[in-house]
Amino acid sequence: MAFTLPELPWAKDALAPTISAETIDYHHGKHHKAYVDNHNKFVSGTKYESMSLEEVVKASQGQANEKKVFNNSAQVWNHTFFWNSMAPKAGGNPTGAIAAAIIADAYADSARAASSAACPLFSMAMMSGSLKPSCCNTTICSG
Ligand SMILES: [Fe+2]
Repeated sequence: MAFTLPELPWAKDALAPTISAETIDYHHGKHHKAYVDNHNKFVSGTKYESMSLEEVVKASQGQANEKKVFNNSAQVWNHTFFWNSMAPKAGGNPTGAIAAAIIADAYADSARAASSAACPLFSMAMMSGSLKPSCCNTTICSG
């Protein structure tokens, strides 16, 4: 089935100044739209055409000859999930079990970073609380 770009659940400027309308427009109107268009192009006329987005992601995952299908369908799902995970004037600290899991995971990441000789600056920054744990895999330690 052909997918259409889902509407944002809020106005493009609703998250400013944290995320500008320009940034939202870029990631939704261009980036997300490109994934939707590519998804539709790559599934057209294939076994994936009649599947739901989730079914396409599951069926194409790990298939060496289906990387374009998987990458684009997964990015459609990721972007849609991301937009629906934010809201204007929302936020605050997590509570309960999710808060405990985040804290436990952050300490585990911190301990791994601190023990890595390849990442001493990250470890020091992590210990001082100036970096979030997710930075290790994407910014500082990946090079
Ligand atoms: Fe994006």
